[in-house]
Amino acid sequence: MTNKEIKIAYQEFDSIDQLLPKDRELAQAAIDATTLSYAPYSNFNVGAAVMFEDGEIIKGANQENAAYPSGLCAERTALFYASASRPDKPMSAIAIAASQNGSLLQTPATPCGACRQVMAQYQLKSGRPMMTLLIGAEKIWKFEKIDDLLPLIFDSI
Ligand code: THU
Repeated sequence: MTNKEIKIAYQEFDSIDQLLPKDRELAQAAIDATTLSYAPYSNFNVGAAVMFEDGEIIKGANQENAAYPSGLCAERTALFYASASRPDKPMSAIAIAASQNGSLLQTPATPCGACRQVMAQYQLKSGRPMMTLLIGAEKIWKFEKIDDLLPLIFDSI
């Protein structure tokens, strides 16, 4: 028997002003995307912004439905739209922000398990690490690759 350990590396920033210009642009797009949210049931407004390798950004936001499972998270809305509209362009990063009553959450909202799996799939499709920024008003977390949010990714088929 061998004891094994997986370490997760990420960076923490106190404000988007501390980010590199490209990261800041993506973070701001995710914050802006929270206003695109349609969340009449939870009033939890999530925005996501996907950056392609060439710098283009596509935004998405959570879309809710009276039949709850028919809604979709912001991350998957943005990623599916990005892949469906630019099928041949590799993605390089995603930023996620959440707000309630018009105010950004203090601590970053972290993506749900289903969204992490979809993020992993588009990292695989893109053939390069997908950097992830989780944006809060007082804390920003930066992960260099999806493996740091979803260790032991399923990609066996
Ligand atoms: N939500 C997201 O958009 N992303 C996540 O990763 C977790 C949750 C949305 C789904 C629903 O519209 C609302 O937040 C409350 O769960």
